Amino acid sequence: MRKISIAIDGYSSTGKSTLARQLAKSLGYIYIDSGAMYRAVTLFALREGLLNGQPNAERLVELLRGVELDFALNPDNGRSEIRLNGENVEKQIRTIEVSSHVSQVSAIAGVREKLVKLQREMGRNRGVVMDGRDIGTVVLPEAELKIFMTASPEIRAARRYKELLDRGEQVSYEEVLKNVRERDYLDSHREVSPLRQAEDAILFDNSDMGLEEQFERIHSHALRII
Ligand code: C5P
Repeated sequence: MRKISIAIDGYSSTGKSTLARQLAKSLGYIYIDSGAMYRAVTLFALREGLLNGQPNAERLVELLRGVELDFALNPDNGRSEIRLNGENVEKQIRTIEVSSHVSQVSAIAGVREKLVKLQREMGRNRGVVMDGRDIGTVVLPEAELKIFMTASPEIRAARRYKELLDRGEQVSYEEVLKNVRERDYLDSHREVSPLRQAEDAILFDNSDMGLEEQFERIHSHALRII
């Protein structure tokens, strides 16, 4: 079997990471959560006080030169989790505070430049499933399988709301729906690498589909081309 690259892009909270993680596990590939990298940079910027009002893009890009981002395996759950300068920040990057600022930060050209370079390095040997917004269009345009995921905003917000509640966050459904809509808008309208479906990507609407069916469909598709 040959090793391929799989790019999964789409709107926020469409279940990209769940599908990507399952696919990677079943194929024995590595999984890269590119959104976690933008979230970790956002957490860093918040900690540095660079997001009060308009983001201080220049200073952030300058400070990022000294910042190390990588993924390390968490032996407790077998998942690869993001580290910011060696600190596991997987939990801290999932808060609504980070979610509310991440689209601003990911629109900064210098931030994208650094992260895209890192993501390309991580994916250079194939045998990778990467999810995000610009994987099929910019990061791994040569990926052999590209999926573009979508679902109605209400369904996506309900899924994310449940996830946040399970994690003990105090949020309302309305707040989550507002965040989902805002991120969709900002991600699709930014100047640098806006969210869009690659020409050769398969459009996958999972509004009425359970996790198992999604996995079965994409997995069998992957097996056909491997
Ligand atoms: O995938 P996730 O929802 O965790 O991504 C968080 C945010 O990171 C997105 O809303 C988007 O602003 C940004 N992002 C991006 N490009 C990627 C992955 C994520 O701009 N490849």
